[in-house]
Amino acid sequence: MNGIHRIGVITAGGDCPGLNAVIRAVTKPAIAKYNLEVFGIEDGFLGLIENRIRKLTSESVSNILTVGGTILGTNNKTDPHRYPVEVNGVTEFRDVTGLCLDNIARNKLDALVVIGGDGSMSIASGFARLGVNCIGVPKTIDNDLWGTDVTFGFATAVSIATEALDRVHTTAASHHRIIVVEVMGRNAGWIALYAGMASGSDVILIPEIPYDFDTVCEFVQSRSKRGKRFSIVCVSEGAKPAGGERVISRVDPTSADPIRLGGIGQKVANDIETATKIETRAITLGHVQRGGTPVATDRVLATEFGNKAIELLEAGERGQLVVMKGRTVTHIPIGEAEGKQRLVPVDHPIVRAARNVGTCFG
Ligand code: F6P
Repeated sequence: MNGIHRIGVITAGGDCPGLNAVIRAVTKPAIAKYNLEVFGIEDGFLGLIENRIRKLTSESVSNILTVGGTILGTNNKTDPHRYPVEVNGVTEFRDVTGLCLDNIARNKLDALVVIGGDGSMSIASGFARLGVNCIGVPKTIDNDLWGTDVTFGFATAVSIATEALDRVHTTAASHHRIIVVEVMGRNAGWIALYAGMASGSDVILIPEIPYDFDTVCEFVQSRSKRGKRFSIVCVSEGAKPAGGERVISRVDPTSADPIRLGGIGQKVANDIETATKIETRAITLGHVQRGGTPVATDRVLATEFGNKAIELLEAGERGQLVVMKGRTVTHIPIGEAEGKQRLVPVDHPIVRAARNVGTCFG
């Protein structure tokens, strides 16, 4: 196949439902149809740095379509450009890209299929500039990868968040409480927007629309006065008040992307209860949204994406990112997505539709 005999597959960044479906969709045809050898790189780019690479067979990727996580392991801390090394008790950061290139050569990998989010695509794009044939496959529950209309994992996260929001509805209504549900998404409010709309949440707070706290309180109080003595608030972890800051739960200095968001749900709940005197509880869904089996549409999308990666290699394409445009799986140069994020436009049709059915965005 275009001089390609051996390919590497790598899953990098946070785990996401559908990763295994992509590994399977790349590996099965690579072996059965194109007679290639396929190697799985363990634990994201860390495995490439440490030369932890194992051969994949049709058997080793059998029965994984419906399984969450990744059989290869992953890592959302390692960036070969900034690899932490302990020198005399002090952590220094070194560029170990050369080590990655050596290991690619040592294992005679003619191409790499990199399944990851924005950080992983930036790394893959850097490799592509150095001559490595990289094909990127976009994953993330956040749906924030620039260049593609959708990433696999997102539908599963939305479905889990929607079910959680649906379930707290009964307690909120029975106890006349406000329940605030914090969902993931980093700087993008897609999960909150979709799950909030799907569950009929009364308030949706997303990072792209900084909220006015008084507006939120007036909204839940006016519902109370109308006899709706409960409210459901769906808040994205990156949401912040106008003129205020995001809530950071931890900073990991060893990580290439050190900020971990979290805590805004509890803060909003505390503030609402203090201001309105209505009992208010907070729930953080956290990694539940990334866990378990992918929904059917994510299994299909992941399989289409993996298959496209192999088709691109067959067509002799290099340095491309598989993307979905409308209903078509296509590709763009991998560098085009670098350093960009796909955020919710404030006038997005779903935002408009939500506002028109009475949802408050603060
Ligand atoms: O990017 C996926 C994601 O789940 C984000 O929604 C979240 O902010 C982040 O990863 C959490 O990362 P970690 O698993 O390192 O806590």
